[in-house]
Amino acid sequence: MRHFSLKNLIIRILLIFITQPGYNGVKITKLKLPLAVHNGTGPIELICVYRIGRHENGLVVKWFHDLEQIYQWIPPMPPQINGIISGLTEYLPENTNKLLSHSIIRLKKVNLAMTGVYTCKISTILEDIAESRRMTVYVPDQKLNIYADYYNNTHINLTCVAKGARPSPILTIIVDGKQLDNRSIRIENHRNYPWIKQEAIVSNYSNPAIIQCEITIPGTGYRKREKLIYYYNKQLERNHNFQQRPSLIIAITNVFLTFMFSNG
Ligand SMILES: *[C@@H]1O[C@H](CO)[C@@H](O)[C@H](O)[C@H]1NC(C)=O
Ligand SMILES: *[C@@H]1O[C@H](CO)[C@@H](O)[C@H](O)[C@H]1NC(C)=O
Ligand SMILES: *[C@@H]1O[C@H](CO)[C@@H](O)[C@H](O)[C@H]1NC(C)=O
Ligand SMILES: *[C@@H]1O[C@H](CO)[C@@H](O)[C@H](O)[C@H]1NC(C)=O
Ligand SMILES: *[C@@H]1O[C@H](CO)[C@@H](O)[C@H](O)[C@H]1NC(C)=O
Repeated sequence: MRHFSLKNLIIRILLIFITQPGYNGVKITKLKLPLAVHNGTGPIELICVYRIGRHENGLVVKWFHDLEQIYQWIPPMPPQINGIISGLTEYLPENTNKLLSHSIIRLKKVNLAMTGVYTCKISTILEDIAESRRMTVYVPDQKLNIYADYYNNTHINLTCVAKGARPSPILTIIVDGKQLDNRSIRIENHRNYPWIKQEAIVSNYSNPAIIQCEITIPGTGYRKREKLIYYYNKQLERNHNFQQRPSLIIAITNVFLTFMFSNG
């Protein structure tokens, strides 16, 4: 017990300044980390805000990524970093001086391996408490394309292809403002370059028809649409039975991005 006494003394002194008189026990009041973050960007902070009662002793702060321990802090010693974040963190003195209320991990740059559930665990001799939140590291699509092809005299073949997005996205084809159900989705993974394709053979369209494909990456708020206007040419249909594509397709690259990050 002797080597703990300096730590205990410091904790006891600092505990005097806790503003809730009579409050005992441990409580995590906030676990703040980005819900979604673009791969390769940074720095970002994982923040655990807690409160410990005036009679608590032996504070230990741990962080886990999924089930792996990545961080351990027994103030006032410096934190120990392991696993997927080792070598990727950065220290700011102000991030380690609020030992009775804040544990902050500052990641210099995020990578795909950092996707997962983060758990902040605060322990004292008497109590243990943990809180978890998921963070998704995503890569936007490098290409999103929608194609409309002649299928037969009543139907068109719509194909939407997205390349490079991670984690696996969801595609939705929208014809004249109406979503198609998600039939015939194909997901293929080429080494390091996944792509996903959705096909639909549809009859219910106006002339011209507005055809859109929307990509979303679940858990991230990432959303983008590609649009084209399809003109069906009846004249060509009658005259050229063997023509592959009796239609004029005008593609409009009308791309918009919506990021809805919540840092709750
Ligand atoms: C993710 O980011 C890392 C770090 O910048 C980079 O090395 C890697 O190629 C990126 N991965 C993808 C799939 O873009
Ligand atoms: C076009 O193809 C669809 C789907 O296979 C079929 O239901 C429809 O009867 C076909 N129309 C004509 C004119 O062949
Ligand atoms: C629909 O069109 C795509 C190319 O745009 C093609 O690869 C696919 O085979 C077509 N599907 C059918 C059922 O004709
Ligand atoms: C299609 O939609 C259903 C219900 O909305 C969903 O359960 C299913 O996972 C979707 N399939 C794909 C391949 O996205
Ligand atoms: C085609 O559209 C009409 C009008 O929106 C709708 O009533 C009908 O159910 C649709 N048919 C199919 C096969 O989707």
